[in-house]
Amino acid sequence: MAATGRARGPGTDHEDLVSVTAAARVDARRLWLRHEAMARHGATAAGGVNRQALSVQEAQAWQLLIGWGRELGLMPATDAVGNLFLRWPGRDPLAAPVLTGSHLDSQPTGGRFDGVYGVLAGLEAVQALQEAAHVPARPIDIVAWMNEEGSRFAPGMMGSSVFSGARGLQEVLAVTDADGVAVAEALADHAAAFADLPCWPLQRPVHAYLEAHIEQGPLLEREGLSVGIVTGIQGKRTFSVTVAGQEAHAGTTPSSQRQDALLAAVRIISGLVAWCHDPQDLVRFTVGRLDVLPNAPSVVPASVRFSIDLRHPDSQRLCHLGDGILAVCEAQAGPCRVTVTELSNAQSLEFPASIRQLLSACANDLQISHMDILSAAGHDARYLHEVCPTGMIFVPCKGGVSHNEAESATASDLAAGARVLTQALVALTR
Ligand code: GLV
Ligand code: MN
Ligand code: MN
Repeated sequence: MAATGRARGPGTDHEDLVSVTAAARVDARRLWLRHEAMARHGATAAGGVNRQALSVQEAQAWQLLIGWGRELGLMPATDAVGNLFLRWPGRDPLAAPVLTGSHLDSQPTGGRFDGVYGVLAGLEAVQALQEAAHVPARPIDIVAWMNEEGSRFAPGMMGSSVFSGARGLQEVLAVTDADGVAVAEALADHAAAFADLPCWPLQRPVHAYLEAHIEQGPLLEREGLSVGIVTGIQGKRTFSVTVAGQEAHAGTTPSSQRQDALLAAVRIISGLVAWCHDPQDLVRFTVGRLDVLPNAPSVVPASVRFSIDLRHPDSQRLCHLGDGILAVCEAQAGPCRVTVTELSNAQSLEFPASIRQLLSACANDLQISHMDILSAAGHDARYLHEVCPTGMIFVPCKGGVSHNEAESATASDLAAGARVLTQALVALTR
Protein backbone atom coordinates (compact mmCIF):
# COMPACT_ATOMS: atom_id res chain seq x y z
CA MET A 1 0.00 0.00 0.00
CA ALA A 2 1.44 3.38 -0.94
CA ALA A 3 1.88 5.84 1.90
CA THR A 4 -0.77 8.48 2.17
CA GLY A 5 -0.56 11.78 4.01
CA ARG A 6 2.64 13.16 5.45
CA ALA A 7 3.64 11.66 8.77
CA ARG A 8 5.65 14.16 10.82
CA GLY A 9 9.41 13.78 10.50
CA PRO A 10 11.48 12.79 13.49
CA GLY A 11 13.11 15.92 14.89
CA THR A 12 13.11 19.60 15.66
CA ASP A 13 12.59 22.01 12.77
CA HIS A 14 16.34 22.71 12.68
CA GLU A 15 17.22 19.00 12.57
CA ASP A 16 14.64 18.38 9.88
CA LEU A 17 16.20 21.13 7.81
CA VAL A 18 19.69 19.63 8.27
CA SER A 19 18.55 16.16 7.26
CA VAL A 20 16.55 17.28 4.23
CA THR A 21 19.51 19.40 3.12
CA ALA A 22 21.86 16.46 3.56
CA ALA A 23 19.54 14.09 1.71
CA ALA A 24 19.51 16.55 -1.18
CA ARG A 25 23.30 16.18 -1.35
CA VAL A 26 23.01 12.52 -2.31
CA ASP A 27 24.57 12.41 -5.74
CA ALA A 28 22.87 9.84 -8.00
CA ARG A 29 25.68 9.92 -10.55
CA ARG A 30 28.45 9.43 -7.98
CA LEU A 31 26.55 6.53 -6.43
CA TRP A 32 26.03 4.97 -9.86
CA LEU A 33 29.68 5.35 -10.87
CA ARG A 34 30.78 3.67 -7.67
CA HIS A 35 28.53 0.69 -8.51
CA GLU A 36 30.18 0.51 -11.91
CA ALA A 37 33.65 0.63 -10.38
CA MET A 38 32.78 -2.08 -7.84
CA ALA A 39 31.33 -4.30 -10.58
CA ARG A 40 34.77 -4.52 -12.20
CA HIS A 41 35.98 -6.73 -9.36
CA GLY A 42 34.76 -10.21 -10.22
CA ALA A 43 33.08 -9.04 -13.43
CA THR A 44 31.57 -11.87 -15.51
CA ALA A 45 31.31 -11.96 -19.29
CA ALA A 46 27.52 -11.67 -19.08
CA GLY A 47 27.68 -8.37 -17.21
CA GLY A 48 27.27 -9.72 -13.70
CA VAL A 49 29.62 -10.39 -10.83
CA ASN A 50 31.27 -13.45 -9.28
CA ARG A 51 32.89 -12.18 -6.09
CA GLN A 52 33.10 -14.93 -3.53
CA ALA A 53 33.64 -14.33 0.16
CA LEU A 54 37.32 -13.86 1.09
CA SER A 55 38.42 -14.19 -2.54
CA VAL A 56 40.99 -12.05 -4.35
CA GLN A 57 38.08 -10.25 -6.04
CA GLU A 58 36.52 -9.40 -2.69
CA ALA A 59 39.88 -8.18 -1.39
CA GLN A 60 40.05 -5.84 -4.43
CA ALA A 61 36.56 -4.57 -3.59
CA TRP A 62 37.74 -3.92 -0.02
CA GLN A 63 40.72 -1.92 -1.33
CA LEU A 64 38.45 0.21 -3.47
CA LEU A 65 36.01 0.84 -0.64
CA ILE A 66 38.77 1.60 1.86
CA GLY A 67 40.27 4.08 -0.62
CA TRP A 68 36.94 5.89 -1.00
CA GLY A 69 36.50 5.86 2.77
CA ARG A 70 39.95 7.32 3.37
CA GLU A 71 39.19 10.17 0.95
CA LEU A 72 36.30 11.04 3.28
CA GLY A 73 38.46 10.74 6.40
CA LEU A 74 36.83 7.47 7.48
CA MET A 75 38.81 4.99 9.55
CA PRO A 76 38.90 1.41 8.23
CA ALA A 77 38.87 -1.54 10.64
CA THR A 78 38.11 -5.24 10.64
CA ASP A 79 37.30 -7.94 13.21
CA ALA A 80 38.07 -11.59 13.84
CA VAL A 81 35.43 -12.85 11.40
CA GLY A 82 36.46 -10.62 8.49
CA ASN A 83 33.86 -7.88 8.55
CA LEU A 84 35.00 -4.51 7.21
CA PHE A 85 34.07 -1.24 8.90
CA LEU A 86 34.65 2.37 7.83
CA ARG A 87 34.16 4.66 10.80
CA TRP A 88 33.11 8.28 10.88
CA PRO A 89 33.73 9.04 14.56
CA GLY A 90 31.32 11.94 15.09
CA ARG A 91 31.29 14.13 18.20
CA ASP A 92 31.52 11.26 20.69
CA PRO A 93 33.81 8.58 19.31
CA LEU A 94 33.21 6.41 22.39
CA ALA A 95 29.45 6.23 21.94
CA ALA A 96 27.85 3.11 20.45
CA PRO A 97 27.83 3.55 16.66
CA VAL A 98 25.00 3.42 14.19
CA LEU A 99 25.89 0.76 11.63
CA THR A 100 24.78 0.80 8.02
CA GLY A 101 25.82 -1.43 5.14
CA SER A 102 25.35 -4.89 3.65
CA HIS A 103 27.81 -7.20 1.86
CA LEU A 104 30.32 -7.23 -1.01
CA ASP A 105 30.31 -10.98 -1.74
CA SER A 106 28.03 -12.30 -4.49
CA GLN A 107 26.45 -15.43 -5.85
CA PRO A 108 28.60 -17.17 -8.55
CA THR A 109 26.37 -15.65 -11.22
CA GLY A 110 25.42 -12.63 -9.17
CA GLY A 111 24.40 -9.09 -10.08
CA ARG A 112 25.95 -5.67 -9.52
CA PHE A 113 23.58 -4.47 -6.82
CA ASP A 114 22.80 -7.26 -4.33
CA GLY A 115 24.69 -6.25 -1.20
CA VAL A 116 26.93 -3.68 -2.88
CA TYR A 117 24.11 -1.17 -2.91
CA GLY A 118 23.74 -1.21 0.88
CA VAL A 119 27.46 -0.57 1.37
CA LEU A 120 27.64 2.19 -1.26
CA ALA A 121 24.40 3.81 -0.08
CA GLY A 122 26.01 4.04 3.38
CA LEU A 123 29.09 5.69 1.88
CA GLU A 124 26.96 8.07 -0.17
CA ALA A 125 24.91 9.00 2.90
CA VAL A 126 28.05 9.78 4.90
CA GLN A 127 29.46 11.89 2.08
CA ALA A 128 26.17 13.76 1.73
CA LEU A 129 26.11 14.42 5.48
CA GLN A 130 29.68 15.70 5.37
CA GLU A 131 28.86 18.01 2.47
CA ALA A 132 25.90 19.35 4.43
CA ALA A 133 28.28 20.06 7.35
CA HIS A 134 26.39 17.68 9.61
CA VAL A 135 28.45 16.14 12.41
CA PRO A 136 26.82 13.09 13.99
CA ALA A 137 26.70 12.92 17.77
CA ARG A 138 27.86 9.28 17.68
CA PRO A 139 29.96 7.26 15.22
CA ILE A 140 28.56 5.97 11.96
CA ASP A 141 30.18 2.73 10.80
CA ILE A 142 29.72 1.66 7.20
CA VAL A 143 29.95 -2.12 7.21
CA ALA A 144 30.54 -4.88 4.65
CA TRP A 145 29.62 -8.16 6.34
CA MET A 146 31.64 -11.29 5.58
CA ASN A 147 30.03 -14.05 3.47
CA GLU A 148 26.38 -13.02 3.40
CA GLU A 149 25.59 -15.14 0.37
CA GLY A 150 26.81 -18.47 1.67
CA SER A 151 27.71 -19.60 -1.83
CA ARG A 152 31.39 -20.31 -1.06
CA PHE A 153 30.97 -21.19 2.63
CA ALA A 154 27.55 -22.41 3.79
CA PRO A 155 25.57 -21.22 5.60
CA GLY A 156 25.74 -17.53 4.78
CA MET A 157 25.52 -14.40 6.93
CA MET A 158 28.65 -15.56 8.71
CA GLY A 159 30.01 -12.12 9.52
CA SER A 160 26.80 -10.70 10.93
CA SER A 161 25.88 -13.85 12.85
CA VAL A 162 29.26 -14.04 14.59
CA PHE A 163 29.34 -10.27 15.17
CA SER A 164 25.95 -10.48 16.89
CA GLY A 165 26.86 -13.57 18.91
CA ALA A 166 24.29 -15.87 17.29
CA ARG A 167 27.05 -18.17 16.00
CA GLY A 168 30.41 -18.99 17.52
CA LEU A 169 33.59 -17.88 15.78
CA GLN A 170 35.22 -21.32 16.06
CA GLU A 171 32.20 -23.04 14.47
CA VAL A 172 32.36 -20.69 11.49
CA LEU A 173 36.15 -20.90 11.09
CA ALA A 174 35.90 -24.68 10.62
CA VAL A 175 33.49 -24.49 7.65
CA THR A 176 35.11 -25.52 4.35
CA ASP A 177 34.39 -24.58 0.75
CA ALA A 178 34.00 -27.02 -2.17
CA ASP A 179 37.80 -27.22 -2.51
CA GLY A 180 38.28 -28.07 1.16
CA VAL A 181 39.60 -24.61 2.10
CA ALA A 182 38.48 -23.66 5.61
CA VAL A 183 37.17 -20.21 6.50
CA ALA A 184 40.10 -19.98 8.96
CA GLU A 185 42.61 -20.42 6.13
CA ALA A 186 40.87 -18.05 3.71
CA LEU A 187 40.48 -15.50 6.48
CA ALA A 188 44.16 -15.71 7.42
CA ASP A 189 45.19 -14.95 3.81
CA HIS A 190 42.65 -12.14 3.59
CA ALA A 191 43.70 -10.64 6.92
CA ALA A 192 47.37 -10.74 5.87
CA ALA A 193 46.50 -8.48 2.93
CA PHE A 194 44.92 -5.99 5.36
CA ALA A 195 47.38 -6.35 8.22
CA ASP A 196 47.45 -2.57 8.76
CA LEU A 197 43.76 -2.46 9.79
CA PRO A 198 42.87 -2.46 13.48
CA CYS A 199 40.92 -5.53 14.60
CA TRP A 200 37.87 -4.49 16.60
CA PRO A 201 36.09 -6.74 19.10
CA LEU A 202 33.06 -8.79 18.12
CA GLN A 203 29.75 -8.23 19.87
CA ARG A 204 30.43 -4.59 20.66
CA PRO A 205 27.44 -2.37 21.45
CA VAL A 206 25.54 -1.01 18.45
CA HIS A 207 23.03 1.84 18.74
CA ALA A 208 21.03 0.94 15.60
CA TYR A 209 21.46 -0.76 12.22
CA LEU A 210 20.05 0.24 8.83
CA GLU A 211 20.51 -1.78 5.64
CA ALA A 212 19.61 -0.55 2.17
CA HIS A 213 19.12 -3.26 -0.46
CA ILE A 214 17.51 -3.88 -3.81
CA GLU A 215 14.11 -5.53 -3.33
CA GLN A 216 14.99 -8.70 -5.27
CA GLY A 217 11.28 -9.08 -5.96
CA PRO A 218 8.72 -7.41 -8.25
CA LEU A 219 6.47 -5.41 -5.91
CA LEU A 220 7.97 -1.92 -5.97
CA GLU A 221 8.35 -1.94 -9.74
CA ARG A 222 4.80 -3.20 -10.17
CA GLU A 223 3.44 -0.43 -7.92
CA GLY A 224 5.66 2.24 -9.50
CA LEU A 225 7.16 3.22 -6.13
CA SER A 226 10.74 4.19 -5.29
CA VAL A 227 11.24 2.80 -1.81
CA GLY A 228 10.12 -0.14 0.32
CA ILE A 229 10.04 0.10 4.10
CA VAL A 230 10.82 -3.46 5.14
CA THR A 231 8.46 -4.84 7.77
CA GLY A 232 10.45 -8.00 8.47
CA ILE A 233 12.17 -11.04 6.92
CA GLN A 234 10.59 -14.39 6.19
CA GLY A 235 11.97 -17.47 7.91
CA LYS A 236 14.53 -19.75 6.30
CA ARG A 237 16.00 -23.16 7.10
CA THR A 238 18.92 -24.67 5.22
CA PHE A 239 20.06 -28.30 5.13
CA SER A 240 22.76 -30.42 3.58
CA VAL A 241 21.67 -33.93 2.54
CA THR A 242 24.15 -36.73 1.80
CA VAL A 243 23.03 -39.90 0.04
CA ALA A 244 25.53 -42.75 0.23
CA GLY A 245 25.37 -45.62 -2.27
CA GLN A 246 27.98 -47.85 -3.84
CA GLU A 247 30.26 -47.17 -6.80
CA ALA A 248 29.84 -49.88 -9.47
CA HIS A 249 30.47 -50.63 -13.14
CA ALA A 250 27.76 -49.16 -15.41
CA GLY A 251 27.99 -52.08 -17.86
CA THR A 252 28.16 -55.05 -15.58
CA THR A 253 26.07 -54.25 -12.50
CA PRO A 254 22.38 -55.24 -12.77
CA SER A 255 19.83 -52.74 -11.48
CA SER A 256 18.76 -55.12 -8.72
CA GLN A 257 22.26 -55.03 -7.25
CA ARG A 258 22.88 -51.31 -7.46
CA GLN A 259 22.95 -48.74 -4.69
CA ASP A 260 22.71 -45.78 -7.03
CA ALA A 261 23.02 -42.62 -4.95
CA LEU A 262 21.87 -40.33 -7.76
CA LEU A 263 18.66 -42.26 -8.42
CA ALA A 264 17.97 -42.21 -4.68
CA ALA A 265 18.61 -38.45 -4.59
CA VAL A 266 16.21 -37.90 -7.49
CA ARG A 267 13.50 -39.86 -5.65
CA ILE A 268 14.21 -37.95 -2.44
CA ILE A 269 14.04 -34.55 -4.15
CA SER A 270 10.74 -35.50 -5.84
CA GLY A 271 9.42 -36.61 -2.46
CA LEU A 272 10.47 -33.31 -0.92
CA VAL A 273 8.83 -31.29 -3.69
CA ALA A 274 5.59 -33.17 -2.99
CA TRP A 275 6.01 -32.63 0.78
CA CYS A 276 6.47 -28.88 0.24
CA HIS A 277 3.66 -28.51 -2.28
CA ASP A 278 1.58 -25.50 -1.30
CA PRO A 279 -1.66 -24.54 -3.10
CA GLN A 280 -1.12 -20.98 -1.80
CA ASP A 281 2.37 -20.92 -3.37
CA LEU A 282 4.01 -19.44 -0.28
CA VAL A 283 6.53 -22.22 0.35
CA ARG A 284 9.92 -21.64 -1.23
CA PHE A 285 11.79 -24.94 -1.67
CA THR A 286 15.07 -24.97 -3.59
CA VAL A 287 17.74 -27.56 -4.30
CA GLY A 288 20.40 -25.30 -5.77
CA ARG A 289 23.51 -27.44 -5.46
CA LEU A 290 24.01 -31.10 -6.31
CA ASP A 291 27.41 -32.76 -6.10
CA VAL A 292 27.72 -36.24 -7.56
CA LEU A 293 30.67 -38.56 -6.86
CA PRO A 294 32.59 -39.74 -8.73
CA ASN A 295 30.61 -37.94 -11.48
CA ALA A 296 31.82 -40.20 -14.28
CA PRO A 297 29.61 -41.42 -17.16
CA SER A 298 30.32 -45.12 -16.69
CA VAL A 299 30.27 -45.35 -12.91
CA VAL A 300 27.13 -45.86 -10.84
CA PRO A 301 27.14 -42.83 -8.53
CA ALA A 302 28.53 -43.63 -5.08
CA SER A 303 27.47 -40.52 -3.28
CA VAL A 304 25.40 -37.39 -3.77
CA ARG A 305 25.29 -34.31 -1.63
CA PHE A 306 22.68 -31.62 -2.18
CA SER A 307 21.52 -28.42 -0.53
CA ILE A 308 18.03 -27.48 0.61
CA ASP A 309 16.91 -23.86 1.00
CA LEU A 310 13.43 -23.76 2.55
CA ARG A 311 11.51 -20.56 3.32
CA HIS A 312 8.05 -19.56 4.50
CA PRO A 313 6.69 -16.37 6.08
CA ASP A 314 4.85 -18.36 8.77
CA SER A 315 7.32 -19.71 11.34
CA GLN A 316 5.06 -22.57 12.45
CA ARG A 317 4.63 -23.78 8.90
CA LEU A 318 8.37 -23.50 8.29
CA CYS A 319 9.01 -25.49 11.44
CA HIS A 320 6.59 -28.24 10.38
CA LEU A 321 7.94 -28.51 6.84
CA GLY A 322 11.57 -28.52 7.94
CA ASP A 323 10.98 -31.07 10.66
CA GLY A 324 9.47 -33.45 8.09
CA ILE A 325 12.50 -33.47 5.77
CA LEU A 326 14.39 -36.35 7.39
CA ALA A 327 11.38 -38.69 7.25
CA VAL A 328 10.84 -37.96 3.54
CA CYS A 329 14.53 -38.57 2.81
CA GLU A 330 14.56 -41.88 4.67
CA ALA A 331 11.32 -43.06 3.02
CA GLN A 332 12.76 -42.46 -0.45
CA ALA A 333 16.35 -43.63 0.06
CA GLY A 334 15.80 -47.23 -1.10
CA PRO A 335 19.04 -49.26 -0.76
CA CYS A 336 21.11 -46.12 0.01
CA ARG A 337 21.87 -44.44 3.33
CA VAL A 338 20.89 -40.82 3.86
CA THR A 339 21.98 -38.23 6.39
CA VAL A 340 20.43 -34.79 6.82
CA THR A 341 22.31 -31.95 8.51
CA GLU A 342 20.55 -28.74 9.34
CA LEU A 343 22.86 -25.78 8.67
CA SER A 344 20.66 -22.90 9.77
CA ASN A 345 17.21 -22.29 11.18
CA ALA A 346 15.94 -18.72 11.21
CA GLN A 347 12.37 -17.80 12.12
CA SER A 348 10.38 -15.04 10.46
CA LEU A 349 10.96 -11.73 12.15
CA GLU A 350 9.40 -8.27 12.35
CA PHE A 351 11.51 -5.11 12.57
CA PRO A 352 10.61 -2.68 15.39
CA ALA A 353 7.82 -0.21 14.72
CA SER A 354 10.03 2.67 15.88
CA ILE A 355 12.50 2.18 13.01
CA ARG A 356 9.82 1.47 10.42
CA GLN A 357 7.98 4.64 11.44
CA LEU A 358 11.20 6.63 11.29
CA LEU A 359 11.93 5.39 7.76
CA SER A 360 8.36 6.11 6.61
CA ALA A 361 8.51 9.59 8.10
CA CYS A 362 11.83 10.26 6.35
CA ALA A 363 10.41 9.09 3.01
CA ASN A 364 7.36 11.31 3.57
CA ASP A 365 9.51 14.34 4.40
CA LEU A 366 11.48 13.78 1.22
CA GLN A 367 8.30 13.16 -0.77
CA ILE A 368 9.61 9.78 -1.88
CA SER A 369 6.86 7.30 -2.71
CA HIS A 370 6.99 4.15 -0.61
CA MET A 371 5.20 1.06 0.65
CA ASP A 372 5.68 -1.56 3.33
CA ILE A 373 7.22 -4.86 2.19
CA LEU A 374 8.05 -8.15 3.90
CA SER A 375 11.47 -9.29 2.70
CA ALA A 376 11.31 -12.70 1.08
CA ALA A 377 15.10 -12.72 0.78
CA GLY A 378 17.47 -13.04 3.71
CA HIS A 379 19.74 -10.24 4.90
CA ASP A 380 22.39 -9.52 7.53
CA ALA A 381 19.79 -7.28 9.17
CA ARG A 382 18.32 -10.53 10.52
CA TYR A 383 21.22 -10.89 12.95
CA LEU A 384 21.56 -7.22 13.81
CA HIS A 385 17.87 -7.28 14.73
CA GLU A 386 18.90 -9.54 17.64
CA VAL A 387 21.16 -6.89 19.16
CA CYS A 388 19.87 -3.41 18.26
CA PRO A 389 16.94 -1.54 16.69
CA THR A 390 17.16 -2.51 13.04
CA GLY A 391 15.42 -1.61 9.80
CA MET A 392 15.78 -1.95 6.05
CA ILE A 393 15.13 0.20 3.00
CA PHE A 394 14.38 -1.46 -0.35
CA VAL A 395 14.63 0.01 -3.83
CA PRO A 396 13.18 -1.57 -6.99
CA CYS A 397 15.13 -3.84 -9.30
CA LYS A 398 14.15 -4.56 -12.86
CA GLY A 399 11.61 -7.37 -13.19
CA GLY A 400 12.36 -8.37 -9.60
CA VAL A 401 15.34 -10.31 -11.02
CA SER A 402 18.18 -11.03 -8.59
CA HIS A 403 20.81 -13.73 -7.95
CA ASN A 404 21.24 -13.32 -11.68
CA GLU A 405 23.80 -11.50 -13.81
CA ALA A 406 21.01 -9.48 -15.40
CA GLU A 407 20.14 -7.79 -12.07
CA SER A 408 19.43 -4.12 -12.78
CA ALA A 409 18.33 -0.96 -10.95
CA THR A 410 18.06 2.72 -11.87
CA ALA A 411 20.37 5.45 -10.63
CA SER A 412 17.41 7.51 -9.46
CA ASP A 413 15.89 4.70 -7.40
CA LEU A 414 19.26 3.91 -5.84
CA ALA A 415 19.58 7.60 -4.95
CA ALA A 416 16.04 7.73 -3.50
CA GLY A 417 16.86 4.89 -1.11
CA ALA A 418 20.14 6.57 -0.16
CA ARG A 419 18.26 9.81 0.58
CA VAL A 420 15.91 8.05 2.98
CA LEU A 421 18.95 6.41 4.58
CA THR A 422 20.74 9.77 4.92
CA GLN A 423 17.80 11.40 6.63
CA ALA A 424 17.30 8.44 8.96
CA LEU A 425 20.99 8.53 9.92
CA VAL A 426 20.59 12.15 11.03
CA ALA A 427 17.73 11.12 13.32
CA LEU A 428 19.64 8.14 14.72
CA THR A 429 22.88 10.06 15.36
CA ARG A 430 21.60 13.20 16.94
C1 GLV B 1 20.29 -13.92 0.40
O1 GLV B 1 21.13 -13.78 -0.44
C2 GLV B 1 19.25 -14.92 0.31
O2 GLV B 1 19.54 -15.99 -0.25
O3 GLV B 1 18.13 -14.66 0.72
MN1 MN C 1 22.06 -9.34 -0.41
MN1 MN D 1 22.02 -12.37 -2.32
